[in-house]
Amino acid sequence: MVTQPYVIDEMISAKAIAARIEALAAEIKKAYAGTDKLVVVGLLRGSFVFIADLVRELDMNVEVDFLEASSYGDSMESSREVRILKDLRGEIGGRDVLVVEDIVDTGFTLSHVLQLLKSRNPRKLETIALLDKPSRRETEIRATWTGFEIPDEFVVGYGIDFAQRNRNLPYIGKVRFLEES
Ligand code: IMP
Ligand code: MG
Repeated sequence: MVTQPYVIDEMISAKAIAARIEALAAEIKKAYAGTDKLVVVGLLRGSFVFIADLVRELDMNVEVDFLEASSYGDSMESSREVRILKDLRGEIGGRDVLVVEDIVDTGFTLSHVLQLLKSRNPRKLETIALLDKPSRRETEIRATWTGFEIPDEFVVGYGIDFAQRNRNLPYIGKVRFLEES
């Protein structure tokens, strides 16, 4: 539960996000040209808006699947311990897999998920993250494609939440707590 009042200051506009996704989709189409084996795997729940916009820019054969890993719970701190809450429905052995993440922060979530998926022997395994906070990284991981690098701020919107709120904002904004009066 969020008790302290806060406001959201816009950081990345809906228009800027759309333009960046168009450019990323062009790169992805090039990287996967000629494949009919692409499976786009969204990490729930934060990537659901991003994956929806991204796959609509990919005019090629794609399958969409989802995986849910535990992360922050309702707090603002990463738990380090990553559990799989919901696994893929489909097989990825021999397939080209693109993992779609909302934010890479410490990197624990993505490295854990990639380790798991690698063990299932995909033909190719790449990642795309809408946002990257490189200053927070505690692992070696880096996404193949990144939308925007951002400073160490807590952000919401475009699928990303603060204690389950603000996922429905069309832009990315940063959370600013108001002083208690
Ligand atoms: P990591 O395991 O520390 O890299 O955390 C990645 C996950 O933490 C992301 O998929 C988000 O769900 C969540 N997260 C990281 N930073 C933020 C943020 O600024 N706002 C909301 N969620 C965040
Ligand atoms: Mg997440």
